[in-house]
Amino acid sequence: MGAHERDLGKTVVYQIYIKSFCDSDGDGTGDLRGITSKLDYLAYLGVDYVWITPFFPSPQRDNGYDISDYCAVDPVFGTMDDFDELVAEARRRGIGIMLDMVLCHTSSEHVWFQRALAGDERYRSYYILRDGRGSTGPGDPGEPPTNWQSAFGGSMWEWEPRLGKWYLHMHDVTQPDLNWDNPEVRAELAQVVRFWRDRGVAGFRFDVVSLISKPEVFEDAGPEGGRSLIADGPHVHEYLQELVREAGIDGMLTVGEMAATTLENCVRYTNPASHELGMVFSFHHLKVDYLNGKKWALQDPDIARLRELFATWQERMQEGHGWSALFWNNHDQPRAVTRFGGREGVGEAGGSWELAAKMLGVCAHLMQGTPYIFQGEEIGMVNAGYASIDDYRDVESHNAYRALVEAGSTPAEALHVVGERSRDNGRTPMQWTDAPGAGFTAGEPWLAIPASSVLVNVAAEKGRPGSILEFYRELVRLRHELGVIADGRVRFIDPGVGAPRAIMFERWLESEAAREAAEAGAPVRLLTVCSFDEGASSVDLPDAWCSAEQLIGNYGDVRQCGGTLALRPFEAQVLWTR
Ligand code: NOJ
Repeated sequence: MGAHERDLGKTVVYQIYIKSFCDSDGDGTGDLRGITSKLDYLAYLGVDYVWITPFFPSPQRDNGYDISDYCAVDPVFGTMDDFDELVAEARRRGIGIMLDMVLCHTSSEHVWFQRALAGDERYRSYYILRDGRGSTGPGDPGEPPTNWQSAFGGSMWEWEPRLGKWYLHMHDVTQPDLNWDNPEVRAELAQVVRFWRDRGVAGFRFDVVSLISKPEVFEDAGPEGGRSLIADGPHVHEYLQELVREAGIDGMLTVGEMAATTLENCVRYTNPASHELGMVFSFHHLKVDYLNGKKWALQDPDIARLRELFATWQERMQEGHGWSALFWNNHDQPRAVTRFGGREGVGEAGGSWELAAKMLGVCAHLMQGTPYIFQGEEIGMVNAGYASIDDYRDVESHNAYRALVEAGSTPAEALHVVGERSRDNGRTPMQWTDAPGAGFTAGEPWLAIPASSVLVNVAAEKGRPGSILEFYRELVRLRHELGVIADGRVRFIDPGVGAPRAIMFERWLESEAAREAAEAGAPVRLLTVCSFDEGASSVDLPDAWCSAEQLIGNYGDVRQCGGTLALRPFEAQVLWTR
């Protein structure tokens, strides 16, 4: 394994959703100085990098993923001096700052789009403009050029009379897609990345970067939708290589958000020989509770499918020398602990909430790749639980609510679905204390603080033995210290008929690394078993594991008996041998 991969294996990243992390000035919105004030907490948790969601000037139609100026700080989040101070203070604590580069689209308020609207040919060529279907000539829009549906509902095309064309927007109508086939656009974007690199940024996350290279021919999509037609497009690898080269970021910590991607492409994006990205986020494992693949239709998580996805992706990424970002949560996802079963006993020690939160932590942190902790995950934050649609802020959630009601759901049914699936579940303010503003703000929060904050908060967990927060600290420490977690190979094992809702995998070191670990008395092999079952189950233990000891688990003991491991509700066990 090369040095590049080695470092990624020892790395743990923490994601901050800036709007909701810590508000230093009482305006109800988190900011850069708020993050700086919490660096000691992040150092306590032990993370190596912090990814901060966009804080650039933006009309905030999509919470900062609609950028109107790539190289400045939105005053609501602070100043460039605040940013420089954050980078320096983080570095003093051994933490690198990663920025979120939203290069697939701009805001419609970006000067490039404004100039395009004003008729400047150069900037018209920065965007993706087409004539309508059936148009009889200039001024007649006709129909949208294709049937593609935007990620947030409605057509991907908007007719703009000032352009005399339809423009493509894969997300909100205020997020026109950039034309990456134009070399000038690519050069501008490489400059943006270079600008932040030169300011001391240690890594980058690239937003929906699998969608930058559009198909050569625009055709109607079948049931799989326009997004799948666009993903992993014809020049995506070439454009990424060029970006990495021109921005001078090869070898830095980078992660691509890969919407609607394939495994083959993810191997290619992350194989070090490609010089594209350090690792990728893929999302297939977070669709196992989508009924017929539809986000706004509920079903219980299909754990057999989850196991199959993890097994295939982990083993094939390994074969192809690719590298995965490991995660359950981010600002676009409902809280995993609610989603995968920890709904009982929220805030109580020993209940299903605490067990499930720790089990999910084990599952992600023991796999091969680089784990990401999303703010609040480390204390077991749960879904928002809002009582009214008016409490939600997210554009996608409101569009979905409207569409559900239009399609015949009652308002209560639509609210229930939104309550399970809204992105705002992951965006509620960080719960620092049980005070009215949750220690997040002294003012009126931009998004309501969930009632659970009085039970689930940092103050209640920090330093308390057995808390989720202390358990996460231990997971981070183990990854830093044990070669078998950082660099070990991975293989999935069928848990058998006695445990239909369990996931089981081995990690092990080979050759020299194995000898060194054995000599130092460190683990050479690990077996991880995670039960997603709220009841009891049992797995057949492969012989080598019958008398192995626990490395970490969410129950203090291990119930091995003969060749069987008895699993209690949401049990996670990591066993080790030399
Ligand atoms: C993915 C981001 O994570 C999400 O929040 C955003 O809405 C879309 N990309 C569009 O930028």
